[in-house]
Amino acid sequence: MPFRPRYTGLIDKYRDRLPIHDDTRIISLGEGNTPLIRLSNIPRAIGKEVDIYVKYEGLNPTGSFKDRGMTMAVTKAVEEGSRAVICASTGNTSASAAAYAARAGITAFVLIPEGKIALGKLAQAMIHGAVILQIRGNFDQGMQLVKEVAEEAPVTIVNSINPYRLQGQKTAAFEIVEELGRAPDYHCLPVGNAGNITAHWIGYCEYSSASGDHVTAACTFCKGHCMYAGGAVVGNRPKMLGYQAAGSAPFMRGKMVDNPDTVATAIRIGHPQSWDYAWTVKEESGGWFDECTDAEILAAQRLLTEKEGIFCEPASAASVAGVLRDIANGKIPEGSSIVCTLTGHGLKDPDTAIGQCGEAIVSIDAALEPVRDAILGNLR
Ligand code: F0G
Repeated sequence: MPFRPRYTGLIDKYRDRLPIHDDTRIISLGEGNTPLIRLSNIPRAIGKEVDIYVKYEGLNPTGSFKDRGMTMAVTKAVEEGSRAVICASTGNTSASAAAYAARAGITAFVLIPEGKIALGKLAQAMIHGAVILQIRGNFDQGMQLVKEVAEEAPVTIVNSINPYRLQGQKTAAFEIVEELGRAPDYHCLPVGNAGNITAHWIGYCEYSSASGDHVTAACTFCKGHCMYAGGAVVGNRPKMLGYQAAGSAPFMRGKMVDNPDTVATAIRIGHPQSWDYAWTVKEESGGWFDECTDAEILAAQRLLTEKEGIFCEPASAASVAGVLRDIANGKIPEGSSIVCTLTGHGLKDPDTAIGQCGEAIVSIDAALEPVRDAILGNLR
């Protein structure tokens, strides 16, 4: 049997496209290299000729796409001599920061909004030994506090305003192009701070740039780190579609939202940090923003689990909810290839999942007859 080299994470794989030195100590948990799954049952059910793939980022080491950015952010923080990282978070960033800080042997401080983070994410931050500061406020207030305190204490911010985060996250676009042999026609993401949509655009632009120069205004965010000059890998770029939760949709309102609310707590953000970059991405790619109600988001989450066997968290399902609507209304034409990023694993938020499926459990006596009857009554 031929042996393949062991996969050792995205920094090792893409080191020629990342701001890494040969002797940099890499803090990795084997992140990246996530499956790109072609949906088979949902397209058939909606009766449309479209190729929909989901990039299952929930299969990263801590269960979300944040690990792509965190391996870079923590690696660089350690390289620069930092002993502590800090972030504000709706949950996934704190879980990822806690895990990578543990791996690096440094401290993670995380500010989370009280009562508004999913149980799995809280468990992760706790078990990895992060110092958890639960604030009586929302993510946006936490983010502001993190920026202020980092001026006064020796901590490195690992939110996506840290430019290394987006450099790590751009690799998701590389993986997609490598698997499809081209960029998709549309790439759809849930949008909160808008860091991830920006990172994907940087990745697509970099892979389609012949010169290796900065090819997008958003790319200036890399602060000079797009340094590859090896020629274009691919000729096309996707239209970028960003979907928000209706109660938390500043890009749809055209202004910041002060009291965002949604069941998709991961994207309960009213003051996106990458506001300007996201507008640039929309303009440059020819894409659009749209919003989905909580009911649409939960319906899409359930559709994915029941029709495709794929369990993502509510925020992630916003991309699928939005795309199904835009396919149905013809904004996305038949014949298109579409990638939706499923940003986080469904196990992150067991409460919401169980809350959706109250009727799924039947209690019976521990005897053969009721078990057999239950089976015969439920065959499909
Ligand atoms: N999906 C999930 C599951 C997320 O956790 C986040 C952001 C997003 C989408 C939005 O990504 O902010 O780059 O537009 N979560 C952050 C956190 C805010 O703290 O975990 P974005």
